[in-house]
Amino acid sequence: MHFTITGGTKLRGSVSVNGAKNSALAIISAAALAQDGATYLENVPLYTDILDLCEILRALGAEVTFVDRRVLKIEAKNITNCVAPYEKARKLRGSTYIVGLLLARMGKAEVAMPGGCDIGARPIDFHLKGFEALGARAWLEHGSILAEAPGGLRGTDLFIDRASFGATINLMIAASLGHGTTHLENAAREPEIVDLANFLTGLGATVRGAGTSTIRIEGSRRLHGVRHEIIPDRLEAGTYLLAGLASGGEVEVKGVIPEHLATVCAKLVEVGADLEMGPDSIRLKSPQTLAAVDVQTQPHPGFPTDLHPPIVAALARANGISLVQETVFENRFNYVNELVRMGASVRVDRDTAIVRGQPRLSGAPVEAPDIRGGAALVIAALAAEGQTTVSGVQYVERGYEDLEGKLCQLGAEVSRDGHALASEGQAS
Ligand code: EPU
Repeated sequence: MHFTITGGTKLRGSVSVNGAKNSALAIISAAALAQDGATYLENVPLYTDILDLCEILRALGAEVTFVDRRVLKIEAKNITNCVAPYEKARKLRGSTYIVGLLLARMGKAEVAMPGGCDIGARPIDFHLKGFEALGARAWLEHGSILAEAPGGLRGTDLFIDRASFGATINLMIAASLGHGTTHLENAAREPEIVDLANFLTGLGATVRGAGTSTIRIEGSRRLHGVRHEIIPDRLEAGTYLLAGLASGGEVEVKGVIPEHLATVCAKLVEVGADLEMGPDSIRLKSPQTLAAVDVQTQPHPGFPTDLHPPIVAALARANGISLVQETVFENRFNYVNELVRMGASVRVDRDTAIVRGQPRLSGAPVEAPDIRGGAALVIAALAAEGQTTVSGVQYVERGYEDLEGKLCQLGAEVSRDGHALASEGQAS
């Protein structure tokens, strides 16, 4: 599968963003904690990882159905199976949350080691250490994570070695059902963690401090279904803002929570963009020439690692040299060689991309290595002269729904697998 993109058009118009993928993966898993009633999740994005996670829950015994296009109903009173289907679970990173879920619900779990984007070693030792601290035994065997807590999990104080997003989610899920109080120290602070905390509170657990590095969770012996709306995807929003910037255009992202993008907006202003913030929208007007800036990725509230490749693509045409340092994942530079094919001057020195801005980029056949690396190539293609084909669209589509449709709505010339989409007059 590939995108064909003819660059050179300044993007103009508005796009709405979907529910946050990384929030939805956590909350769908957590929904199966409820022994009573049904959960209705609104604003669920329709990615393959989400659909695979739904399949896994069904295989465990939950009833999972889309009752509307973006409304997912989950009823999990009959969880009967402790083994997640191996081939499904190995495909996505979010499947690790099934271990936390099953330990809490069943006292036992067997889930394949997760897959996901190839951006570093991505071990799961913090998850396992956390489960052990909660009173479980957890180990790796035959390609799977195995865990058991025959006497149930018990609340405890535990320190996560590094503010890992996934470990924080998993331990919040595990600690919410059962007894005792858990303090998670050095917890991740992403908005998706706060979304999960609100959801767990709705289920009947007591969760305090989410959004800070200390989270307190009082487990409840019984949890019940609830209705919840997934927060908007700040990473999708950031990607469209950077695409608008790289193209020299003027775009508005709608349906966002602007505070979630504070650090990203600070960088956009630093490169020279004009921003207009609404209560749930951000409008960006590009400068004539982008200023070079330095960026360092950090866990939230720092600059998000997931927007590192997209901002490098935008800075490829800045006036001067930008340094983009990646501190979260050790191998997030797989997209760089492809960007260089398009005329970008990017050199990687250890954990830093040195980006020497060029006056022009030129279209080329390139291949997306992962979700965000693929988004970077699409952004570069929009800014490049001539035609680019981006293959490996299946990776990009793990994090962006209808990317070509939304870009066409902004006036871009993009088609998927040779099917042109109408681009004229659709900007709203
Ligand atoms: N780490 C460990 N041990 C662990 C867990 C993490 O050493 O047990 C290390 C990782 O190797 C990494 C760092 O800690 O170097 C941070 O990893 P983290 O656990 O925070 O990331 P994750 O949970 O694996 C999620 C998102 C990623 C996003 C990161 C950072 C999901 C499914 N994935 O991954 O999303 O980049 O948090 O915010 O939620 C994407 O959306 O494109 C994506 C890759």
